[in-house]
Amino acid sequence: MKDASPQTIYLKDYTPFGWQVADVHLTVALSPDATRVRSRIRFEPNPDAPAQRFFLHGEDLRLIRASIDGTEVTPVLTAEGLECDVPEGGFLWESEVEIAPAANTALEGLYMSNGMYCTQCEAEGFRKITYYPDRPDVMSVFTVRIEGDEPVKLSNGNPVAQGEGWAEWHDPWPKPAYLFALVAGELLNHPGSFTTMSGREVELNIYVRPGDEGKCAFGMQALKDSMRWDEEVYGREYDLDIFNIVAVDDFNMGAMENKGLNVFNSSCVLASPETSTDANFERIEAIIAHEYFHNWTGNRITCRDWFQLCLKEGLTVFRDSQFTSDMRSAEVKRISDVIDLRARQFPEDQGPLSHPVRPESFQEINNFYTATVYEKGAEVIGMLRRLVGAEAYAKALDLYFERHDGQACTIEDWLKVFEDSTGRDLTQFKRWYSQSGTPHLKVSDDYADGTYTLTFTQETPPTPGQPEKAPQVLPIAVGLLNPNGDEVVPTTMLEMTEATQSFTFEGLNAKPVPSILRGFSAPVVLMRESTAEEKSFLLAHDTDAFNRWEASRDLARACLSAMITEGAGPDLAWIDALEQVLRDATLDPAFRALMLALPTQAELAQMLHARGVTPDPDAIYAATETLRDAMATRWSALLPELMAEARVDAPFAPDAEQSGKRALGNAVLSLQTRLDGGKAAQAQYDAADNMTMQLSALSCLITAGAEDAALAAFEAQWKDDRLVMDKWFALQVAATAPEKAVARASALTERADFDWKNPNRFRAVMGSLAMNHAGFHAKDGSGYRFLADWLIKLDEKNPQTTARMCSVFQTWKRYDADRQALMKAALERIAARPGLSRDVTEMVTRLLG
Ligand code: PHE
Ligand code: ZN
Repeated sequence: MKDASPQTIYLKDYTPFGWQVADVHLTVALSPDATRVRSRIRFEPNPDAPAQRFFLHGEDLRLIRASIDGTEVTPVLTAEGLECDVPEGGFLWESEVEIAPAANTALEGLYMSNGMYCTQCEAEGFRKITYYPDRPDVMSVFTVRIEGDEPVKLSNGNPVAQGEGWAEWHDPWPKPAYLFALVAGELLNHPGSFTTMSGREVELNIYVRPGDEGKCAFGMQALKDSMRWDEEVYGREYDLDIFNIVAVDDFNMGAMENKGLNVFNSSCVLASPETSTDANFERIEAIIAHEYFHNWTGNRITCRDWFQLCLKEGLTVFRDSQFTSDMRSAEVKRISDVIDLRARQFPEDQGPLSHPVRPESFQEINNFYTATVYEKGAEVIGMLRRLVGAEAYAKALDLYFERHDGQACTIEDWLKVFEDSTGRDLTQFKRWYSQSGTPHLKVSDDYADGTYTLTFTQETPPTPGQPEKAPQVLPIAVGLLNPNGDEVVPTTMLEMTEATQSFTFEGLNAKPVPSILRGFSAPVVLMRESTAEEKSFLLAHDTDAFNRWEASRDLARACLSAMITEGAGPDLAWIDALEQVLRDATLDPAFRALMLALPTQAELAQMLHARGVTPDPDAIYAATETLRDAMATRWSALLPELMAEARVDAPFAPDAEQSGKRALGNAVLSLQTRLDGGKAAQAQYDAADNMTMQLSALSCLITAGAEDAALAAFEAQWKDDRLVMDKWFALQVAATAPEKAVARASALTERADFDWKNPNRFRAVMGSLAMNHAGFHAKDGSGYRFLADWLIKLDEKNPQTTARMCSVFQTWKRYDADRQALMKAALERIAARPGLSRDVTEMVTRLLG
């Protein structure tokens, strides 16, 4: 049993384990209710560790026997593992335990999904498989024997032998237990191969359930592209003879980088034009790359302890975003990443869950797989690269791999590599890892006698546990335009280190217009009081795609803000200025599609709150609707032209070019729907031969309230495809009018195919309700109650997924007193549930602050 009384773990308490593990031999005899796991582990004293009592982690294990050097022992069993007297010097530990994978609904450790066995060990799941020092700084060589009738039996490393009812695998690379994996079942493989840069042949496989074999080709190509890219850009070659990916339907997260045996949520690997949207294709490509890149940043060099999670995650997210930029459009990727950062990381960093990129304490590590660790962690790497330059970054990475290969490292190790290879002092930069919160950056400017001065002030609002903040190192990319719109100073990287700091530019003929924070060069909130004229000017002339987009976004925010708080009408000047951009056929359609999107309602709520206005979700929804209606009306002539331009006549390909066109066309369709009540959308729905077009049309029909026929047709067509039906569940809740959202979500949960124990299906309904801003925040509290009921129900089965979903309440202090009270009551009701998991206990405690 897990210890329910929450215990806090601190980074400062780190102590090495008293032993090293020379090697591990596991025999796993599979059975749904009584799997036997025999372990043989050779322990050697760790000369670098203080004396300590021998302790092995173990949870939900039935110990059958244990022995040391062949003599039976009787360890002391504790809530978290076992303790035992052991000889001085090295010894051989053997144990046998019994576990019940079929009863494991938490999807951590060894569990079953649609009759297939699979494992998930990160972060602390291996202790549910056998007794072991389950910590990432204990690395060892694993040999695994799997016994069972399943035709396919997989583990890490290379296959070494097999016979009737058994298979043996050996992984030559020392690894922590969290990278262990085992899969067994009736699976089919989609094969491939890759020749590495040194000429070694690697066998590749994507294993799927029968019926899914037609959805593997895209993932296989993405894997090969990733392998080639990591060789070309980072000089990293794959290091085993075989690389396997397995698709699993029941999975808490996106995917897992187990050595040589990546396990994927099937939604993150299976793809076909008929069943997957362009966004799915792009995401699948990125996740396959991400997990593959972990082979070096995560596996060969791993984390000393879980506080260092960003060492592998921040870096690997950064690497996968570089990959996507290279495969597709760098500008579009950057804008999309910033949209995502603002939607997921900013609210986290500005609310009760705020924590540093490297946290200093936790109760349940699963709660720290966050946008801050991942996405802000990647932003920190991006800043480091901007500060030292691309070449120095590449050199530092070479040193990192050379110096730390085979080790379990810390952020200190990582920064030391940069200090040693560049000669820079990174003491102040390191605050990015320890200081939580989003810095606010204020700007003022001055022009006199040909000299232009920009003065910046940085200030980070207090966050939980951190009332005082010190100045951080900010790379601020700036360009200057002259009044005709020509760029007179190209992008220059200013390095801000003080709380207030000025930078001057000489030799200018006139006061320039500054383009600040180009490419979103630092993850801050830029607070520049600039005029609408200046923004329109940048929208028309900026050479930096990100800031061009940002200028329009700023105008949209200002317009919506005036509509919400002052009852103003839509800003026609902005709509007209945007039209000029949309008409520019030299611009990438994907970029123009991004320009067409409005800030989300959640983002608007956040903006109002930051300005001291209590956001009213209904007013935000109404203003957004009014503005979109106004855009559609104003552009009634433009829309058909754009639609024609966006038409794809070639056979479907999920590449950047086609998907950009479809994105533009579908953004236009949603406006067109406001003019024709869904006529064009219905036509597109009927003609669609790929999921991107089909789903967008369905979404438009839902917003138009004309969806009944299409919803039924969609269901009839796709009822046997779980991943497509997830979209059907999700879209109805996300796209429906707010007043219907809770009732709709609730009705969906009554269906026989609402398999709520499946995380994808649960999130399809619950996550989408939270995305329906005004629906979730229904004044009567029905959205909060509904979600709380389901979180309470799921926690009993799956604490990890429940805890992650609790973050939908993280913005509760933003809203009016009535809504606050209702959300607080929902959280308190969750907190009061007897037997609440450690995961959810920690989350609601932090949320209630
Ligand atoms: N390490 C995985 C990744 O980022 C995420 C993950 C964490 C998956 C915990 C499962 C459990 O790629
Ligand atoms: Zn990762």
